[in-house]
Amino acid sequence: MNVSIIGTGYVGLTTGTCLAFLGHQVTCVDADEQKVQALQAGKIPFFEPHLAELVDDVKANLTFTTQYADAIPQAQVVFIAVGTPPGHNGAPDLKYLEAAARGIGQYLAGEFVVVVNKSTVPIGSSNWVESIVRDAYEKRTGKKANGVFAMASNPEFLREGSAIFDSLYADRVVVGSDHQRTREVMYSLYRPLLEQTFKPPSYVPRPDRMGAIPLISADLASAELIKYAANAFLALKISYINEIGQLAEKVGADITQVARGIGLDARIGMRFLQAGIGWGGSCFGKDTAALVATAAEYGLDAPIVKAAREMNRRQRERVVEKLLDELKILKGRTVGLLGLAFKPDTDDLREAPALDIARKLIERGARVKAHDPVAMERFLEQYPDLDVTLCATPEAVAQDTDAVVLVTEWQQYRDLDWKSIKCTMRTPVLLDGRNVLDRGVLTRAGFRYVGLAG
Ligand code: UDX
Repeated sequence: MNVSIIGTGYVGLTTGTCLAFLGHQVTCVDADEQKVQALQAGKIPFFEPHLAELVDDVKANLTFTTQYADAIPQAQVVFIAVGTPPGHNGAPDLKYLEAAARGIGQYLAGEFVVVVNKSTVPIGSSNWVESIVRDAYEKRTGKKANGVFAMASNPEFLREGSAIFDSLYADRVVVGSDHQRTREVMYSLYRPLLEQTFKPPSYVPRPDRMGAIPLISADLASAELIKYAANAFLALKISYINEIGQLAEKVGADITQVARGIGLDARIGMRFLQAGIGWGGSCFGKDTAALVATAAEYGLDAPIVKAAREMNRRQRERVVEKLLDELKILKGRTVGLLGLAFKPDTDDLREAPALDIARKLIERGARVKAHDPVAMERFLEQYPDLDVTLCATPEAVAQDTDAVVLVTEWQQYRDLDWKSIKCTMRTPVLLDGRNVLDRGVLTRAGFRYVGLAG
């Protein structure tokens, strides 16, 4: 099929590349000329494992442009995957979504096209986008837009850092639509994925025992709500384990054992029970805020989601409180942060706990040093005013510090030579913000090991 994708961020570029991999002819549109030029030259504007390889493998099926005129008239399916950054009062800012909808309406050729909302958008946005596309089309052509296009909602569940795996081997595909014809188009589009008939790329193999992927066919509002409800549930699972972690610390229990003990109950599940600093990233904070804002519009309070957000905020404060407990005075101290990205395997810094922690420490008069395997360049670009000294290695971060905080659990931080690191520190305090290091190993190496839970 002929597919166009508006927006080449994590979601748009991954979706476009995976659809090209499934055999579709894909055109990706982005307003940012520099970004499009880079993509045309095979350069990926962010760090995502295997994406560059896949883009290269499917280049015969994938083109990049800044022009709607090159992408919309021939398309059978148009995905909107533009950013919806946080706006006022928790509601996302929809200006890019609006611009994309208008652009699509201005270039629709008149043959039936499915316009798909892939961006996470407030409930009801599909209707809103439909009205903008319709107005733009009718204004340009002077004709009624009936039968020219239909809306679908196809929320994305991919995680940064494993975006291709999550796209090719999704747990489910959700399609919201109010028309049979639209559902048929979306089914044809995803058929090789749903039936898993494609030959997997060697670098992202199909997991053992992978069966067909279930397709959830829903109405538009349900599909939109599914996305928010899924992200909020994962977020509250993390906040829940952090709440239990605080109690575990008081009663002397081990939160890792507790998480395993409850997670093996299939009704609960093992994943997203890793206690620690809590969530960051572009989705959980924004989506839980949007869910609370939507609930409020309808006179509802959403106390559970609010509590999850509050617990997440508290975990970041607790890092500073724990350091205060250990060092008593933060003024003039030096604290080293291991990890800047909001999680491993990405260079994304949106809502990264490291930023918040660095700010809080600097406010209290401490100096902050940091290292990240991939996110330092982006940090310098985006936060030139945040006074953090970047170091080329984790060892250099630890040198002459009063405490080191593990903020992002990159694999390379798990097996550092802690013994020699300890010898270079002023005071050997290690705060394991992700609960992933071995307390015994660290203690034997001479560290004062501090956890956030138990
Ligand atoms: C999330 C959703 O998982 C994905 O389905 C959705 O489409 C987009 O939002 P992402 O933000 O890329 O994906 O990252 P994810 O792997 O979900 O992690 C989010 C945050 O939660 C990270 O900061 C991570 O460190 C934290 N986390 C995750 C925990 O603190 N504990 C856990 O057990 C799991």
